[in-house]
Amino acid sequence: MTDHAVRRPPTLRFGGDYNPEQWDEATWREDVDLMRRAGVDLVTVGVFSWATLEPRPGERDFGWLDTVLDLLHNHGIGVDLATPTASPPPWLGRLHPATLPVDASGTVLHWGSRNQFCPSAQEYRDAALSITGDLARRYGRHPAVQLWHVGNELGQSCWCERTAVRFRSWLAARHGDLDGLNAAWGTAFWSQRYGRWEEVVPPRTAPYLHNPAHLLDFQRFCSDTLLELYRAERDVLREHSDAPVTTNLMGFSPVVDGRAVGAEVDVVANDHYVDPADPRSHVFAALTHDLVRSLGGGAPWLLMEQATGAVNWRPHNPPKPAGRLLTDSLQAVARGADAVCFFQWRASRAGSEQFHSAMLPHAGPDTARHREVRELGALLGRLDAVAGTPVPARAALVHDWSSWWASRGPARPTDRLRVEEQLLAHYEPLFARGVTTDVIGPDDPLEPYRLVVVPALHLLEPAPARRLAEWVRAGGTLLVGPGTGLVDRDGAVEPGRFPVRLRDLLGASGEEHHPLVEPSPCTGELGEFLVADYAERVRSDGAEVLAAHAGGDLDGVPVVTRHAVGAGRAWYCSALLPPAALDGVLARCLAETGLAGELDGVPAGVEVVRRGPALFVLNHTAGPVSVDLGATARRDLVGGQTLAGRTVLAPRAGAVLVEEST
Ligand code: GAL
Repeated sequence: MTDHAVRRPPTLRFGGDYNPEQWDEATWREDVDLMRRAGVDLVTVGVFSWATLEPRPGERDFGWLDTVLDLLHNHGIGVDLATPTASPPPWLGRLHPATLPVDASGTVLHWGSRNQFCPSAQEYRDAALSITGDLARRYGRHPAVQLWHVGNELGQSCWCERTAVRFRSWLAARHGDLDGLNAAWGTAFWSQRYGRWEEVVPPRTAPYLHNPAHLLDFQRFCSDTLLELYRAERDVLREHSDAPVTTNLMGFSPVVDGRAVGAEVDVVANDHYVDPADPRSHVFAALTHDLVRSLGGGAPWLLMEQATGAVNWRPHNPPKPAGRLLTDSLQAVARGADAVCFFQWRASRAGSEQFHSAMLPHAGPDTARHREVRELGALLGRLDAVAGTPVPARAALVHDWSSWWASRGPARPTDRLRVEEQLLAHYEPLFARGVTTDVIGPDDPLEPYRLVVVPALHLLEPAPARRLAEWVRAGGTLLVGPGTGLVDRDGAVEPGRFPVRLRDLLGASGEEHHPLVEPSPCTGELGEFLVADYAERVRSDGAEVLAAHAGGDLDGVPVVTRHAVGAGRAWYCSALLPPAALDGVLARCLAETGLAGELDGVPAGVEVVRRGPALFVLNHTAGPVSVDLGATARRDLVGGQTLAGRTVLAPRAGAVLVEEST
């Protein structure tokens, strides 16, 4: 938390959401006592307290919060104080029905759950800023308040008439006049031409396919609107408090542009809920953590929410197996988190999350789950040496929200080319080799990297394409995946052989999308493999062909090419490669760049990451693994021993190795 450190010198913070309004005062006292024993030093309070703080319009009941904040402070527990604006009280919807969100089909969404607000409704905005202002005035200088938490998981969209009005202003600012809008959206198609602004509405349920440019602009508008809400609350908080301000993101959530939020928060915070039933969930978690770190330009970030055990919102909710709470948490720290927090401290007895795990389960402190929580708290207390330190990365994946939105439009060549899957597919070989990877945006600097991977950047603007070319010429290695560089900023197809803006750099170009009915055999110096689902009909315009389709309709069509440009190389995979083939391509790219992980021969399921002075070695598998830790003897901050050479890591266990002198 560099500039806005919630505590100096930096330490790793530990805690979770705390919802005292669900409990009586005797329980609060038990809570703070148990928190202290568990090493908890940061709790998020008030996320869903609006109806308790403002039981009737304009009334305020801060007494209970005064007591809670004082109690926490007196026990040495810092507070991340939330504005309660993600869940308005029922009276707001009753008195101001226009604050209720409307979905694309025109259905009004009511109270009785949470998030029932339209981000464009002025009455909602006024009420949200009013309670935020009062909280900030009352607690802005309270010694317990170390951080502000705006709303919760920005993610609400609305298709109502007020939204339509704001959407039109947003469009006028982007496209100038209606002619500009008609041109950008290509409304000559299907008689969609707009003659008056009143005709332009959010993309409501329609008889058939929506205009993709309309959808793309609406996603941008929704994201900008949520960011506007964040900024408005943040600015009110800043008038009365010097504490840093954040909001909890949802990693790869398509609703809000995480990069735009990252630029506006004082410290990036994220919620991540692994699926214990998914064997690749630790890889996806690593990718998400690397994204989150990159959203803050590499600065330490906060894991604001995760589960200690099971969630309750998937159809079937297995708990985390023993040890996983620890390895998941160490993984986040290894990838730059300076706080490990959970939803939530005490399991709720009532309400929709009564079967969600917590740091303190219904069964109480004498439980395996709570013992793990305490063990983690004690361990984090031994890892201060890594707090505030950077996570060096020389490889990067490129991911952009606008491009992702454009790729999700309707009626594409295939629904099997999904950006999130392509990111994970390209990330996995790097993860397996212990090569730390940032997840940058197309406008971020490329200089820190030797390898840049563009798995599927559907929308590619001219400036980033030029910068990629210059960076390759200067010696970088670039790998471009299929489905890249197809459309412009408005989602319109770039005419010409694709990817139009990269074809000179790649020395190869395509002319037709080729979703496959049958797997297509491919061969070349990368070996033999089958491409399923999606390929592109490309040709080499000077690039070496390292693999080509062999037989069938695409016989002889290149599938993997490499083009030497200046001091660098540009690789192009023009098909969805099977994992082993993609692994082979990335292995070659890494060999060319000289990038490698810190340990050799790391077994599958073992993660190796350097952060600051520490080397994290995490066994994500259900069995013991033997890892060669190298010749240097290092102290393990987890187990306390000095380790070197071949070492057996227990199932779902980790080591955090530092030089003996650290
Ligand atoms: C998050 C949310 C929390 C809680 C949690 C349950 O999305 O921010 O309030 O609902 O999920 O997993």
